[in-house]
Amino acid sequence: MSVPNERFVLLNPGPVTLTDTVRDSLTQRDMCHRESAFSDLMRDVRGQLCHIYDSEQAWTSVLLTGSGTAAVESMVSSLVSGERTALVAANGVYGERIESMLKHAGKCPVMVRSEWADPIDFDAVEAKLQQESSIKHVIAVHHETTTGRLNDLGRLAELCTRYGKRMLIDGVSSFGGEKLDLDHWPIDGIAATANKCLHGIPGIAFVLVPRTVSEKMRPSASSLYLDLATNHSAQEKGYPAFTPAIQSLYALKQALIELEAAGGWQQRHQLYCQRSTKVAAALEEIEIQPLLVNATDRSSVLTAYRLPRDCDYDSLSQPLIENRIVIYAGQKELERIIFRVAVMGDLREDDFERFFQTIGEARRS
Ligand SMILES: Cc1ncc(COP(=O)(O)O)c(C=O)c1O
Repeated sequence: MSVPNERFVLLNPGPVTLTDTVRDSLTQRDMCHRESAFSDLMRDVRGQLCHIYDSEQAWTSVLLTGSGTAAVESMVSSLVSGERTALVAANGVYGERIESMLKHAGKCPVMVRSEWADPIDFDAVEAKLQQESSIKHVIAVHHETTTGRLNDLGRLAELCTRYGKRMLIDGVSSFGGEKLDLDHWPIDGIAATANKCLHGIPGIAFVLVPRTVSEKMRPSASSLYLDLATNHSAQEKGYPAFTPAIQSLYALKQALIELEAAGGWQQRHQLYCQRSTKVAAALEEIEIQPLLVNATDRSSVLTAYRLPRDCDYDSLSQPLIENRIVIYAGQKELERIIFRVAVMGDLREDDFERFFQTIGEARRS
């Protein structure tokens, strides 16, 4: 049986190992979301989210109570206007999930699929943009967590600019840890969550939208709860449309204070790069290789590793979990081929030493 508050080292892609101060923030006073104190907290966090990345443009944020999927679904089902008006460039589970969301919303997208271990097929995207004049939005996952690939959004942005299209980005596993160019990419929306690179807890997700877009938003999603315009207009008036995850917002506020104190997203990115490089070097010593051979294809946040021929996922993950270290299996067709190691959260040197020692022993046994 696990001991309450025993330290667990989460090397899965969120939720993350919390700092003690973020964990302590959860036990602040009970609060009603119709109090002015809540309104102040919400305004504060919404404003801070818009300033994590420098931008000359004015942005607004919409908080949603739910996981990252809620934010992505809210964004795409609200901002995509109809059938075949969006192109989804998919190379993993999360790109394909966006296709399902749009189908559920009755807004079937044009798909450009790649093999999961491959980059976005930019030639095919360009061909579709030339062929289908109804396309207004191009949608992509920034960091495709399925494989740890950081999709080249700069290149996608160039195409969108050339063809006069707007971008919707799933930034769930990159926001706060990877570069996003809010001024030069033609972005209409970025969806993200509190419990990955921002180091908060699950419960709050959000969508960032330029003010030029939010000013024109009208209720348009088939879901009332996830409608971006409905949530945004209520929050602009000072209060959320529905009962929010108040404790998750407490934690997010503290996590954002800590992100700023740590030097913002750039420093966090550097830290993740150092950690991921160190993990790759240690795993190389025990003959475990990354799925994506080229290091520049990989995000700083998470790396997918090939399971060695002579061992399965459980033989690596079981001894780790017994030592309170959590890694992450591959999904769907990659389930028996890879495992993943994320480096977000409040991780310490000795956590990594314990990880390397335990996985090394598991490999030798
Ligand atoms: C890129 C990406 N998009 C969407 C999601 C879905 O987020 P959630 O599981 O919080 O709903 C994830 C989850 O890991 C993700 O990595």
